[in-house]
Formats: sequence, C-alpha cells, structure tokens
Amino acid sequence: MTPSDAPDSRWSDLDRPPLNAAALRHALVRPGALWTSLEVVQETGSTNSDLAARAASLPEGAVLVAEEQTAGRGRLDRSWTAPSRSGLFFSVLLKPGPGVPMERWGWLPLLTGVAAATGLSRAGGVDTALKWPNDLLVTVDGEERKAGGILAERAGEDAVVVGIGLNVSLRADELPVPAAGSLALAGAVSTDRDTLLRAVLRSLEQWYVDWREAGGDPAASRLQETYTAGCATLGRSVRAELPGDRSLTGEAVAVDGDGRLVLATEEGVREPVAAGDIVHLRPAAS
Ligand code: BTN
Repeated sequence: MTPSDAPDSRWSDLDRPPLNAAALRHALVRPGALWTSLEVVQETGSTNSDLAARAASLPEGAVLVAEEQTAGRGRLDRSWTAPSRSGLFFSVLLKPGPGVPMERWGWLPLLTGVAAATGLSRAGGVDTALKWPNDLLVTVDGEERKAGGILAERAGEDAVVVGIGLNVSLRADELPVPAAGSLALAGAVSTDRDTLLRAVLRSLEQWYVDWREAGGDPAASRLQETYTAGCATLGRSVRAELPGDRSLTGEAVAVDGDGRLVLATEEGVREPVAAGDIVHLRPAAS
C-alpha cells in the first residue's frame, strides 16, 4: 500500500499526482541547454547528498528530483520535511568553471532565489519575496510565511549542488512549523508541480547562463539589482543571529557586491553579514 492509499490519508493520488519525468526531460533537456539530465526518484534521503556524491562523475546540469525525502536538509543544520508529493524537492549540479572567480560563487544561492521567485510568479501566479539570503516567502492571511528554501553546497573543487525545497499543496494542518506556508495557502493559480518545476528550471537556466557569461559579476548580470528589488529583508529592522552565539541588530540597508546583507546599527556603523539567521523584527510596512 502506498502512503497516499493509507486509510487515514486525506489526500488521494489524484490530489497529488506524480511528476511526469519524461515530459519534463523532453521540455528541459535539449542539445545546447544547461540541463543535461533529469531524474525523478520516488524516495531518497536527500537529493543534495545524492547529487554531491555523484558530482565528480556527472556533467554540469544534472537535475535530481525526489517525490519524497526522508532526510532532507536545510541551512544551518536544520532539516527539511514534507509529505510525499506535497511540494518540489530537487537539486541541480552547477560547475561555473574558471570564467567565474570563486569568490563570486556565493551568489549562486541568491541567484537561485531570484530565479525561483521569477518562475513561480510566471507559472504559479503567486508573489514571492526573498528573505535574505534565500528563503522564499509568500503571504498567507496577511502574514509572511516561508514556502521555500535553498541549500547550496560545494561538491569538490569545481562543483556546487543547489537544492530547492518548495511547499506546493501543503495544507495548514500539515505545516512543519506555524511560520511555514505553501503556494496553495497563498492562493496560487496553479499548483501543478510539472508546470512549476519547468518554470523554475527555465528561469534558473536563464539567470545562471547570463551570470556566468558576465563572469559572475552581480552588477553586469543585473542580479544584484533584481535581488535587491525582490528582497523583503531590506528596509526592515532585523536581528542577525551570527555564528558563535553572537547577534547584531540594525536596519537592513543593502546587499553588497559579495551578496552580504549590510546592517546599519544604532551606533551608526554599517556591518556586512555574510552568514547566519535573520529575524525580521517587525512586519513589513503595508
Ligand atoms: C532551508 O530552508 O534551509 C533550505 C532547505 C532546502 C531543502 C532542499 S529539498 C531538496 C534539497 N535536498 C535537501 O536535502 N535539501 C534541499
């Protein structure tokens, strides 16, 4: 018996149909395209871990999608959990090459956030905002909620695995934490996962290729300005919880050329934050 046939399941296979791997491949994997392979597995621990383990033997552009993950991982050692087929859980293998200096690779997770937001707005008809560095926020009942997250990890010398988790059809009683949301709860016009995945991967391909052609320059590729325009953290009062149990409070005033969030503190100092967790201290001004 599959989980969705279980007597206590409130979702049938029709509510959460499987992804169509062949159609996705047909649409995305073409000569000259970034995406070189696309595999959909029913279940795995973590698509990021799987792709990282195969990074050396796969060409750039491999895409691995799971209908369910049993050990999904998030930033800052958190986990990522979601019921089978309730969302999109996938990873892509990127090898920017010598044309992009390594210090610019830190833009990849931010670039992925911009691409996902663009793809979701086109295909899902839902507005998403980015919480620095790369959480995808939607609005549910007037509140900002996290519907997606991005985890970028180095895989050897030349590769980065970027994983995306998106809550698509998750209902209120299935949310992992009260601050979470989903595209369905945010009133998306489409929650068809094939359509959404296609749109996000197409947008990611476009942003990545342009950024790579610009040598990873966030200004020349217009990544920095687009990220800034879509970032809900900017202009807000925030607390940055930093490595080593330190924290810093201030107004988020910019995202600099290295992708760092710049805070203006009460002491009048501008402090760039490269890593850590950001807490939005007040709701966004309406
Ligand atoms: C975060 O919000 O902290 C990032 C969450 C990233 C989750 C995705 S799901 C697909 C890929 N595989 C993983 O184990 N994690 C990422």
